[in-house]
Amino acid sequence: MTDPLVGEMSPAEAESVYFNEYPPPKALPKHEALARAFINLHVEENRRVVLVTSGGTTVPLEAQTVRFIDNFSAGTRGATSAELFLEQGYAVIFLHRQYSLLPYSRHYSHSTNCFLDFMDEAPPSSESSSSGSDNGPIMVRDEYQDQMRSVLRKYRYAKQNNRLLLLPFTTVSEYMFELRSLAQLMRPLGANALFYLAAAVSDFFIPRSRMAEHKIQSSELPAHLQNTNDATVDSDEIYTGENEEEPSNRKKLVVNLDPVPKFLHRLVDGWAPEGSMVVSFKLETDPSLLVYKARTALQRYSHHLVIGNLLSTRKWEVVFITPDAPYERWLRVPKSRRSKSISGVEDQVGLAEAKKGNTAPAEQVERDGVLDGSHDGIEIESLIIPELIKLHDKMVEKKGQSA
Ligand code: PMT
Repeated sequence: MTDPLVGEMSPAEAESVYFNEYPPPKALPKHEALARAFINLHVEENRRVVLVTSGGTTVPLEAQTVRFIDNFSAGTRGATSAELFLEQGYAVIFLHRQYSLLPYSRHYSHSTNCFLDFMDEAPPSSESSSSGSDNGPIMVRDEYQDQMRSVLRKYRYAKQNNRLLLLPFTTVSEYMFELRSLAQLMRPLGANALFYLAAAVSDFFIPRSRMAEHKIQSSELPAHLQNTNDATVDSDEIYTGENEEEPSNRKKLVVNLDPVPKFLHRLVDGWAPEGSMVVSFKLETDPSLLVYKARTALQRYSHHLVIGNLLSTRKWEVVFITPDAPYERWLRVPKSRRSKSISGVEDQVGLAEAKKGNTAPAEQVERDGVLDGSHDGIEIESLIIPELIKLHDKMVEKKGQSA
């Protein structure tokens, strides 16, 4: 069981308590074997390798999970950044939430840019018509040929040259196990390793020892069917409706979550290779907290860069918080170059935020029906990645001089 004093433990103690609580994910040995081979190849070729984490982690409420709490992230930041790292010659380990956006296929994945909208049936050839068939080949529509060819070529290049390794996770504990293993496997890379932590990681979880095994019931069961092993079905955690005038056998669910230890500390001080660069993201919704929280994270974990972003404006502005001058630097996509197409998931968040007045004008978050794959604006990642690589270059250079 997780010690209630976990917050007072040293990071190393918190690590052993947390990792002892869970069995490693079933896929871990396979992922480790794939990662080892991938890393060895790029060590031999003296290539830089970036671990990009992307998408949100879940916190299951039940061991046989029907319900879970999720963290917001479509995976756009991670998938877009991965493409740009690949273009700059990095090999990419893409540790992502299963079914979130992936590099390259992200261009054709949402309801606003469904791949089917890019396709058409060509007229049947004379041969097929003469044989009585009206089936022509399926083609990419003329107006998307250039854009799709360019994406396809980059995708093929990355695949054929072993530059991209895709590894999925779902829960926060799977993410933590994978992150720890990958960081340790990356040690031979030294300063050629970069960590780009864009995943939205849960801060709270239900320890395995307090988790219900089976689906939590929303109404009282007869005594002989109640599962005594069901740790969350405690009278103080789930209780009947409070409206006394409307007696009901439906139960309220009160969830009691523990804090997930912040493993950034362990990543920087223990797991990651000596001399590697660690970049984390800080997501906030209150603009007045962003810089303060990002700076506090940088000071607390002593890594190299925190990229701060607000939920409502993350598509067109971020702030780089660094330990050295200029300490705080904003990168912004000019208003006239902001992409107007926003995928379905993001649309809803953007519109909700706009209504609350937490974001830029509604015209920037409105769905306009333009296909995302056409790249009608600048993606902020194309500003982030070159600046980040300059910082990585400096670190690698410094390391080379001191070696
Ligand atoms: O995917 P998109 O829709 O494009 O959205 C991108 C994004 C907004 C999710 C992304 O840009 C972003 O901000 N990701 C980080 C969100 C987040 O988890 O922030 P945080 O404040 O909870 O965590 C900050 C850092 O601490 C993270 O780098 C995380 O790796 C680390 N962390 C978090 C929780 C935890 N228990 N341990 C950790 O080490």
